[in-house]
Amino acid sequence: MPSVTDRYNPLDAEILRDPYPVLAELRMRAPVFWHTGMDSWTLTRYADSVRVLRDHETFARDPRRTGGKVPEPSLSVQTLDPPQQSRVRSLFMTALRAQDLVGVEDRARLLVRERLDQLAGGGPFDVVAEIAVPLSVAVVADLLGVEPPPYGEFAEVSDAIMRSMDGGLNPALVEPGRVARQQLSDLVDSWFAASARSGLLARVRQAMAADPDALTRLYVKNTARVMFQGGYSTMAAAVGNAVHTLLAHPGALGRMRDGALLATGVDELVRFDGPVQGTTRTAVRSCRIGHVDIAPGQKVVPLFAAANRDPAAFTRADELVLDRIPNRHLGYGWGPHSCIGTTVAQAGLRALVAALNDHPARLAAAGEGVRHRTATMRAFDTLPAALLV
Ligand code: HEM
Repeated sequence: MPSVTDRYNPLDAEILRDPYPVLAELRMRAPVFWHTGMDSWTLTRYADSVRVLRDHETFARDPRRTGGKVPEPSLSVQTLDPPQQSRVRSLFMTALRAQDLVGVEDRARLLVRERLDQLAGGGPFDVVAEIAVPLSVAVVADLLGVEPPPYGEFAEVSDAIMRSMDGGLNPALVEPGRVARQQLSDLVDSWFAASARSGLLARVRQAMAADPDALTRLYVKNTARVMFQGGYSTMAAAVGNAVHTLLAHPGALGRMRDGALLATGVDELVRFDGPVQGTTRTAVRSCRIGHVDIAPGQKVVPLFAAANRDPAAFTRADELVLDRIPNRHLGYGWGPHSCIGTTVAQAGLRALVAALNDHPARLAAAGEGVRHRTATMRAFDTLPAALLV
């Protein structure tokens, strides 16, 4: 039988269905191992992942720090490192804190409620197309203060970008990803040119008016694109995963009628089966993780999905514990690149769960879902369900 490290192919059908058993075996037998397909050191322990995510001086996100190149449209909060990144990040964080997230949550809850009204009693439907995509486009557009683009069209562009995140495993995905990024850039350009409604983008533009630096403007525009596309795609994936988890745990949805459980439960759903499976950093100097020596220039991949089930960090790690406190999971990352949109995502997930609980019809599974064949993002292509009246 091949070793567990040889068996770990994130695109394998069985692993896409349920990655957690093989990740648990890796955590035990090979917590730091070289993955040839990903050309990286892969980490499965919580403590090792946190260390890498925190230490941005040793582990770079910006490929230029290790001699790589970044095309201009990709220079954003996501690809820069502190100190360059910090100014852009704080611009967006400050603008986000000034937004009315209660309003975003209320409008999202109403949107889901209306869609459930349309779907109830009408036979099986696809949770991704009917709920996850519209909810996520609406939440992110509402936050930014822009007109939501047509759902279907936007989902296709976003899909191409999401698939290109696996470009290391499949180079054929890189070019369609580049074209899609350009399309999205054109859309974001049009938002910047037009006078935006009140919202995060208007706030950022206002703050930028006092900063004539062309480079900052470029970073800000690219970051607005990441907020929209990255925010949408992770949110949509999280909604699909959350509904799947709730369907597999009878009683969990109903228990989240309790406000305290709703608040802690949406975080537990992301820990239990979150959308972002891992991330990449590059060592800028020699270092050691566990028993492994890492050379400068080598890539390191902390696997959030493995860290989030590490029994050294979480009691009853393989169980869904809706009232888990504290819950310092890595589903939203950690350190200087942790998710900017965490509070927005939490609001969107609360809106979803609350609307499902508001509705008199009962959500039920209506067959097996089909997973996206992507390693970085854990998502459903389709997830059939029905609303029984
Ligand atoms: C449940 C939904 C979401 C999850 C699970 C999630 C997860 C993550 C994770 C794991 C990272 C860090 C990746 C890394 O270290 O490489 C990240 C970064 C980021 N997220 Fe989210 N995210 C979600 C929703 C959103 C939303 C709604 C927005 C915006 C409206 C957003 C905006 C961002 C941005 C801009 C970054 C880059 C931050 C940086 O590099 O400094 N995310 N997200």
